[in-house]
Amino acid sequence: MLAIMQTSFNGIDALTTADIPVPALTPNGVLIKMHVLPVVPTDWKREANPHATAEQAAQLPRIIGVGGTGQVVAVGANRNPALLHQRVLVMQPSGSYSAYLLSENPDFIFPLPAAVTDTSAAALTAGPGTAHVLQREITASTATNVVVTGANSVIGLYLLQLLQPQDKHIWPIVSPASQAYFQAQCPDYPAVTAADLPPLTTDTLVIDIAGSEPLLNTLTAHLTDYEIVSIALTQATLPLKFVHESFTPADYRQFIGDLATGDLHAPIDRTFAVRDTIAAQHYACDHHSRGRVLVTFD
Ligand SMILES: NC(=O)c1ccc[n+]([C@@H]2O[C@H](COP(=O)([O-])OP(=O)(O)OC[C@H]3O[C@@H](n4cnc5c(N)ncnc54)[C@H](OP(=O)(O)O)[C@@H]3O)[C@@H](O)[C@H]2O)c1
Repeated sequence: MLAIMQTSFNGIDALTTADIPVPALTPNGVLIKMHVLPVVPTDWKREANPHATAEQAAQLPRIIGVGGTGQVVAVGANRNPALLHQRVLVMQPSGSYSAYLLSENPDFIFPLPAAVTDTSAAALTAGPGTAHVLQREITASTATNVVVTGANSVIGLYLLQLLQPQDKHIWPIVSPASQAYFQAQCPDYPAVTAADLPPLTTDTLVIDIAGSEPLLNTLTAHLTDYEIVSIALTQATLPLKFVHESFTPADYRQFIGDLATGDLHAPIDRTFAVRDTIAAQHYACDHHSRGRVLVTFD
């Protein structure tokens, strides 16, 4: 079967295709024929940096990817036989870019209702779960202002959808090139550039999604009293708290249910063929964020 492999830390262009055996079904496993997979920043960061994440990225060669959608084609003896033939969203941080994937974690597989497409469910991977962590940080904070960098990012757009009406003043920060896109996606929020942020003299929580230290330096010059929570920087010259995705299976069942009812919208950009993964990653990495880029095995 076709798989997209990382064999070095020489970046996106060093990715290779491989023809590897279909995984053997195990008693605790579910075999999934993959359909649609997201292109996420974690992929291209891991491909260039062995220390990009705490996970097993240093063990090469490895199949890239962290999840996707597909159809169950075989179910192990210890798993729920009702999964057979179901379309599912599957999380697989150990690698998902293969024509077939063996999932052995029951908490990482989510059947999809007919109203949820493979593409919209694939765009849930590395998205609202992380936004939900940031939502909880905002809810727990006593700050009166919340400044969100990278507001037009996939995770930023999920976060703004998850936020309930509240007392805090939300300041979504976008680059000038992304202002019009953000405004079309989130007409209820202002699209503020870093240069336009007014001085904020009361407590401010900075939610950092963009991961740019120069941007944080520019923004904090406008702030009197602030804390920074980042999902993109583990450390910086400014004091910050790094947080990472954590979710319960119930969270993802809720996101899928909300996609089905239209209460959650998945931001999606272009879809590439899986054999064009290098082009897909360059497109996502080298352009401003306009929704999740996807690849398809179909
Ligand atoms: N901690 C975790 O558990 C976790 C989980 C998932 C993802 N992440 C990280 O979260 C970040 C966002 O992910 P995503 O999928 O939402 O990314 P994305 O859709 O590609 O968006 C990236 C955002 O960052 C902005 N940006 C990038 N470089 C910038 C710079 N130098 N100055 C200003 N803005 C800049 C982009 O603005 P433009 O579009 O205007 O260029 C865009 O808004 C990534 O770094 C990813 O690795 C962390």
